[in-house]
Amino acid sequence: MSVQKSDAKNPLLFECAWEVANKVGGIYTVIKTKVPVTVQEYGDRYHLIGPLSYKSAPMEVEAIEPDDPLLASTFASMRERGVKLLYGRWLIDGAPRVILFDTSSQYSKLDEWKGDLWNLAGIPTPPNDHETNETIVFGYLVAWFLGEYSAKRTDTPIIAHFHEWQAGLAIPLCRKRKIDVTTVFTTHATLLGRYLCAGSVDFYNNLQYFDVDHEAGKRGIYHRYCIERSSAHCADVFTTVSHITAYESEHLLKRKPDGVLPNGLNVVKFQAMHEFQNLHAQSKSKINDFIRGHFYGQIDFDLDNTLYMFTAGRYEYRNKGVDMFIESLARLNYRLQSMKSNVTVVAFIIMPAATHSYTVEALKGQAVIKQLRDTVTEIQQRVGDRIYEHALRYTGEAGTEFINPADLLSEEDRVLLKRRTYALKRNALPPITTHNMADDTTDPILNQIRRVQLFNRGSDRVKVVFHPDFLNSNNPILGLDYEEFVRGCHLGVFPSYYEPWGYTPAECTVMGIPSITTNLSGFGSFMQDLIDKPEEEGIYIVDRRMKSLEDSVAELTDNMVDFCTKTRRQRINQRNRVERLSPLLDWKNLGIEYSKARQLALRRAYPDLYTEEEFDFGGVARPAFSTPGSPRLHATGAVTPGDFATLTEEMQSLNTSDYKGIQTWQALAGEEDDGYPFPLV
Ligand code: UDP
Ligand code: G6P
Ligand code: GLC
Repeated sequence: MSVQKSDAKNPLLFECAWEVANKVGGIYTVIKTKVPVTVQEYGDRYHLIGPLSYKSAPMEVEAIEPDDPLLASTFASMRERGVKLLYGRWLIDGAPRVILFDTSSQYSKLDEWKGDLWNLAGIPTPPNDHETNETIVFGYLVAWFLGEYSAKRTDTPIIAHFHEWQAGLAIPLCRKRKIDVTTVFTTHATLLGRYLCAGSVDFYNNLQYFDVDHEAGKRGIYHRYCIERSSAHCADVFTTVSHITAYESEHLLKRKPDGVLPNGLNVVKFQAMHEFQNLHAQSKSKINDFIRGHFYGQIDFDLDNTLYMFTAGRYEYRNKGVDMFIESLARLNYRLQSMKSNVTVVAFIIMPAATHSYTVEALKGQAVIKQLRDTVTEIQQRVGDRIYEHALRYTGEAGTEFINPADLLSEEDRVLLKRRTYALKRNALPPITTHNMADDTTDPILNQIRRVQLFNRGSDRVKVVFHPDFLNSNNPILGLDYEEFVRGCHLGVFPSYYEPWGYTPAECTVMGIPSITTNLSGFGSFMQDLIDKPEEEGIYIVDRRMKSLEDSVAELTDNMVDFCTKTRRQRINQRNRVERLSPLLDWKNLGIEYSKARQLALRRAYPDLYTEEEFDFGGVARPAFSTPGSPRLHATGAVTPGDFATLTEEMQSLNTSDYKGIQTWQALAGEEDDGYPFPLV
């Protein structure tokens, strides 16, 4: 198609995701942290589109009037027909413009749109799947908006970039309606992959062989799968976040991605080199306070010799490797006991689950500790006053300048202190959870903890705290933001089985906190492909691809034992080394892969307007590492993140074997699954 676009040099970009200004998991992190580099490239030609949540929007977005009259008239016409939307600035770094659609304002159209979807694309939808209903209404609203707006704005090419199936439905609609936009679809997982892995399927050895329609049908997600698959197939450019997910997409969605766009972070460098080390110490002291409260009455361990390990994320028990984490903690406990180690490990599990409220015990713990602290502060003041008053009355007689130590504490003070310390008595063991679980008896995490009997006994060298909610500094218990919490910990442990990328270890890295991940996570494979010996840099990558499960658990345990034997100095050094890897994860270096995807989309939609030569992406500088002891990178010569990602026109003609690490997965195909070395709960 030959088109005229007088403003071809300044394309507009609409980026659409369910997690725009609406936090659920890692996609929110992708979008939010990428904003500064995208705004730098597109300025006010950049808009984000998401769902309007009346709960979070007032905190996240400030309403403004559009200065583009075509945008204003599109909104007016949609509003006239009952659409509720919010236009404003997202209050984050880069302050991008966002359009948030209220899906509830158009539920009256749901049945009509479902019928249309069936006629248009043959996609069936059951009546009671709320998530799919939301996806349909949102998709139709976005396609409506793009259709109306692009019909008015004919002089400028429009790129519409969609993330994940929940925002992808507008893609087939744009294609069928011949809406004049070019589309990019980035998937952050596949639905089938997530579901299959959560069960007890030997996923990676059988990827090529799954009967996808049958498997989706069996799990009641056929309709969702159809939406995802049509998004991938109808997009001008299809991408994903890692090689492992590219391989999976090719087999489960039946389209080979055009390229891999690794996830970055907005890396903020501190003025002072070692500021992040100070932040670690400050945050750790806040975690220490929590521990004093949680373990009150039974703090027989030395906080100076205590290490904080944690895992965090959406509650996906097997996919996030929580099963393996708990099993390895039990083995670590045994090993530390056998070694007669004086180190105590407190392992946190931060994963939102259905709960009723905080437990009385958890609240009481923080309260009694606070009372004790307040009382001691008061007594301290009174003791100070007594010393002062006594010294003031000094008459010159030698020895009388000092108060008699026995008089320092008054009788009332003694009684008060006694009362406070009696309140610290407790007969039960310190609790595992901070909340009352809605489903205590069947909760997989609790059941696994029960099975391995990590009950926070005095003799246990490994203690466990399960916080079944995301963290927030306003919480009465563990009142820290997630970032602050991570900084205060010593080691993040993320032994995922299914993890297209995995932001949690990446975030640890840029905060200078070592972590353990696996070669089945996108992030782990990315690091392994880039760095010579990641474990020497403080990123341990457990092999869950080539090893049996028993061996993987043993490797994870060894890594944790190893970490526990480090001295403080070694830990400080390791934090320095980890933090130096940050440039590898900086959007300033990785953002270029998104630019390439967008340019490819423009070339595919408007071949007459754009030639390949116009886009010069060459010369991305090698990420600068701070010396000394910079990590050794794998490749020789110019190493750019672009060398790793693969977005090219030719990608489609390459073979499956082009994905990084693929040979080893294929070598495994056909081998027997070793089975779980511990029972699945
Ligand atoms: N996270 C958070 N608060 C918490 C725990 C986790 O905000 O208390 C965030 C974390 O910062 C990360 C995201 O949740 O960005 C999880 O993303 P990841 O890619 O690891 O997993 P996903 O949930 O997307 O599968
Ligand atoms: C940072 C601080 C040091 C502190 C150390 C504790 O490096 O700058 O002052 O001693 O953290 O490290 P640790 O690994 O024992 O928590
Ligand atoms: C998905 C994946 C996660 C990834 C995130 C961002 O939610 O589960 O591994 O980090 O998307 O791409």
